[in-house]
Amino acid sequence: MKKASPVSRSGRFARGPAAEVAAFTESVSFDWRLWRHDLLGSLAHARMLAQVGVLTRSELGAITRGLQEIGAEIEAGRFRWKPELEDVHMNLEAALTRRAPAGAKLHTGRSRNDQVALDVRLWLRDEISALAQETQALQRALVELGARHAGVVIPGYTHLQRAQPVYFAHHLLAYVEMFQRDRERLCACFGRVNVCPLGSGALAGSTLPLDREFVARELGFVGPDGRPRLSQNSMDAVSDRDFAVEFCAAAALGAVHLSRLSEDLILWSSREFNFIQIADAYTTGSSLMPQKKNPDVAELTRGKTARVIGNLVALLTLLKGLPMTYNRDLQEDKERLFDTADTVRAGMRLMAAMLAHVTVNAAACAAAARDPLLLATDVADYLVKNGMAFRQAHHVVGAVVARAEQLGRPLDRLTLAEWQAVHPAFGADVADVFDLEKAMARRQLPGAPGTAEVKRQLARWRKALG
Ligand code: ARG
Repeated sequence: MKKASPVSRSGRFARGPAAEVAAFTESVSFDWRLWRHDLLGSLAHARMLAQVGVLTRSELGAITRGLQEIGAEIEAGRFRWKPELEDVHMNLEAALTRRAPAGAKLHTGRSRNDQVALDVRLWLRDEISALAQETQALQRALVELGARHAGVVIPGYTHLQRAQPVYFAHHLLAYVEMFQRDRERLCACFGRVNVCPLGSGALAGSTLPLDREFVARELGFVGPDGRPRLSQNSMDAVSDRDFAVEFCAAAALGAVHLSRLSEDLILWSSREFNFIQIADAYTTGSSLMPQKKNPDVAELTRGKTARVIGNLVALLTLLKGLPMTYNRDLQEDKERLFDTADTVRAGMRLMAAMLAHVTVNAAACAAAARDPLLLATDVADYLVKNGMAFRQAHHVVGAVVARAEQLGRPLDRLTLAEWQAVHPAFGADVADVFDLEKAMARRQLPGAPGTAEVKRQLARWRKALG
């Protein structure tokens, strides 16, 4: 009989796969980054095996030391990953068995199918926490930028046409709300990631008396009630990637929010708007046009959203035709997942840093916000307050706007006679409608861009975000 290789499936096969096949099927070139979580999972599994009497104390000691040494070696960049050992799991197990013969017992009652499900869940828990933190830091940056320019008013837009005045801070706080929901989605996703699949074996559990609750507790798979959270169906546990899809969906939505914010920054920093300037460090020049300063960070944040959305679609497509249970197709989940986590996290981080380096052109904002047409709806409201039906008021103000256009004068430069020529309901006090400061103070509804309300929202977010 040929000598047993340090890992797994050697008995059944006369020789290893052809080089081309190995290159096609290996995953260690990307899943190596699960090493820390793989070691953690192995450590917990080994402790459990000792607990139930499969490993002796000294075997557990040898395995523990071996795993720790391997971790230190990887950390120091001295570990040699071998593609012929296929994936991170077999690389680490082989390295352990070389050090400690007891390593050959580590895979007792375990399959790479429940092992990889475990590793990805452990890894994702950390990623979710990190992404949620970056998202919160971005929220803080938005609130701070808004608070630094609390008095600045800009036109709000619909259809990219000037609509009504809003505080610059109100516009930014809209994104704070979006990112808050992103964090809530990540948090909900975390709850479903935080379930321990280990003990599900290849697909059908194990005949050995494993202690699943022990492993779950060791690895922090514990609910808010303090009870261990175990997957309840072994077949589901090894083939479920819902949690990965959910993460990619939540992250994709976060990326879409980043992309929209990027688009606003790009527009605002154009000469046409000129509301803000983005610091040089977050822009680049043109190789040809000497005057150019391009908002590349914002553009790439918008652009990279495409791949994040693509990753979500790739995962859904990967899963849709899979028969139960584990299929090797599932190995394709990792690069999509890694790319999403890396891309969105970097996007959140860079956006927060860039916002800290944005200057606001208060004069250009004020000039745009002074456009009296932004207050046409307020004029209609004025008529409504004087008893006119809104539909009629809308029509009357439309006629005034047309008249002003005819006269070639801004709306707030019409004489009382000109107002009254359109409708006698107008009084001299219509001029007050165009006092922007008063107009902003009038917006008192919860969630409206009024002076007091925006101040209240800024304070609320500052407190909530710490
Ligand atoms: N590299 C594999 C993956 O990422 C690990 C599980 C392999 N299991 C198997 N039975 N071949 O999904």
